[in-house]
Amino acid sequence: MTTLSIIKADTGGFVGHCEVHPDMLVAATTAVETAIAQGLLIDGKVSRCGDDISLIMTHDHGPDAEPVHTFAWETFLRTTEIAKQLGLYGAGQDLLSDAFSGNLRGMGPGYAELEFTERASEPVICFLADKTEPGAWNLPLYKMFADPFNTAGLVIDEKMHDGFRFEVYDLYEEKRITFDTPRDSYDLLMFIGAPARYVVHSVESIKLGVPAAATSTQRLSLIAGRYVGKDDPVMIVRCQSGLPAVGEVLEPFSFPYAVAGCMRGSHHAPIMPVGLAQATPARFDGPPRVVALGFQITGGKLIGPRDMFADPSFDRARSQANEAMDYFRGHGPFEPHRLPLSELEYTTMSALEAKMADRWEPMPPVPATRAPV
Ligand code: F6R
Ligand code: MG
Ligand code: MG
Repeated sequence: MTTLSIIKADTGGFVGHCEVHPDMLVAATTAVETAIAQGLLIDGKVSRCGDDISLIMTHDHGPDAEPVHTFAWETFLRTTEIAKQLGLYGAGQDLLSDAFSGNLRGMGPGYAELEFTERASEPVICFLADKTEPGAWNLPLYKMFADPFNTAGLVIDEKMHDGFRFEVYDLYEEKRITFDTPRDSYDLLMFIGAPARYVVHSVESIKLGVPAAATSTQRLSLIAGRYVGKDDPVMIVRCQSGLPAVGEVLEPFSFPYAVAGCMRGSHHAPIMPVGLAQATPARFDGPPRVVALGFQITGGKLIGPRDMFADPSFDRARSQANEAMDYFRGHGPFEPHRLPLSELEYTTMSALEAKMADRWEPMPPVPATRAPV
């Protein structure tokens, strides 16, 4: 069995929250190369989207493995040091705890991990997003694995016809549930249509009984109990041979759907599919970005990446995202551009409520002269 792990963290932004400094990428790459040489990892690549570094690693330790999580944590400590030396913004932002004890759960960095038996040919797409939250994967995952208008294979391919099993986490109450599509599609949509709370954690093929997709599902704001940035999620999707084709996996991103995040983690904005060169959210700290790195995995080796969205067929999605951004920005501080109060990351509201407390009065009574109804 091979395990593919993407472990990511924002350990400092260049400039502001825009990008990762090249020196940090060099340090992370050196660490990964050392871990391969020492036999901890079979292979590994370092990438980034916006201000988040992603370590994309193959190994045979399984998910949640202490040595792999420890390696990632130590690598992020190293990139934090560099961010501090260079005076970069928010150095060590996602490393929430001083007391790391072998597993990253609740520690700040996000991770998506998938353990599988390698097929004769193993095409995989690693998605990395910045300025949004884990629920941002709900819509594209539904389209890839449950919408025949997106994925022709659901109708045409006999191996896909039985559908897919979605595992959904309730991030508020820390519980999980599974739905089999197409049978439970409408039930599934009722939940995952509320992506701030219900997040698809994994998907598997019902017919083949194999894992197909995994996402990072932490919510930093809930972990830390205070605002520490959106959690900028990652996702792994296996493709082809009874799973959605590469083109079916990329297709949902041809529509720049609205996600929560962007400026101060507090706005709805369109998600823009981009090549790595454009994964640098600038306007209003956005619009949120997603990159898709394609790999062929063979004997655990990561052959790639191919920068899948660096392709003219996504130009229209990018231009629609810019138009949608103008439309949302036109609302300024009004919903639905600004998130509803319950979802706001920066909560000046409680302070404001206290400050205004003695200025509120009851509404005027109904005038006595008016005839009772
Ligand atoms: C969003 C994000 C940025 C910051 C914003 C303010 O996820 O990281 O939009 O929230 O740039 O940053 P601070 O409060 O650090 O000045
Ligand atoms: Mg940041
Ligand atoms: Mg980020």
